Amino acid sequence: MQQLISVIGSKGGTGKTSISHMLCHGLGLLGRHSISILTDIEREPLSRVGRHYITLDGRSPEKLDKILEKLKNMPDWLGVIDGGGNRPDMDRYLYELGGLVILPFRDSQEDMRTVLRDLDRYPNALGIPSQWPTNSWQQMAAERTLDEVMQTYRPRLLDPVYSVSSSKLLLQTEAPSHLPNMLNNVSRSLARQVLDRLGLPYTPDGDDSGITN
Ligand SMILES: Nc1ncnc2c1ncn2[C@@H]1O[C@H](COP(=O)(O)OP(=O)(O)O)[C@@H](O)[C@H]1O
Ligand SMILES: [Mg+2]
Repeated sequence: MQQLISVIGSKGGTGKTSISHMLCHGLGLLGRHSISILTDIEREPLSRVGRHYITLDGRSPEKLDKILEKLKNMPDWLGVIDGGGNRPDMDRYLYELGGLVILPFRDSQEDMRTVLRDLDRYPNALGIPSQWPTNSWQQMAAERTLDEVMQTYRPRLLDPVYSVSSSKLLLQTEAPSHLPNMLNNVSRSLARQVLDRLGLPYTPDGDDSGITN
């Protein structure tokens, strides 16, 4: 499904849930409709109150099927799947299903080792550095580790999603209707690169003054 983005990966705590919500939030700010689809049985569904996107519970196979059927009839909408860790069969299914598949990983040797295995296992998936340092020295060190550990995979990596403490506001049951600029900017830039990869247009600042690509 071209309109489906799967955020998956073997390891827990890499930023799948945060990135899936930041992506939906950013898509909303860029004038794109999206549905955040929960598939992680360890998490509770979040209310759609205060959000620029819809949230749906796809934790059972029946519910997920229904949501995907609905999405097929809404060609202008994007679905973003929040996967769960340690579920190779589910990840394989979500990989086959997704028009774009992204694998978050943090600045740690362990995350990088795991994502390398996932990048080999899922040859069309893209890695995305997550919770990336904003301090310039730490950033240089993280870049150096990327070069050492993942150099040949760099063409398959998206730009990093920076560490932004307000990202947890999106994971509250009800999101505040006004969110910090920093979070909006990080979310928009994530959404832009995803839309670029999908070859889809967006409004520059979420207004309706014209579509650009
Ligand atoms: N970009 C980010 N900036 C700051 N904290 C983050 C970011 N992404 C994730 N986190 C934090 O890292 C932890 C794990 O993230 P989460 O999205 O739940 O990972 P996963 O869904 O892969 O288990 C959470 O406490 C979350 O708030
Ligand atoms: Mg999660």
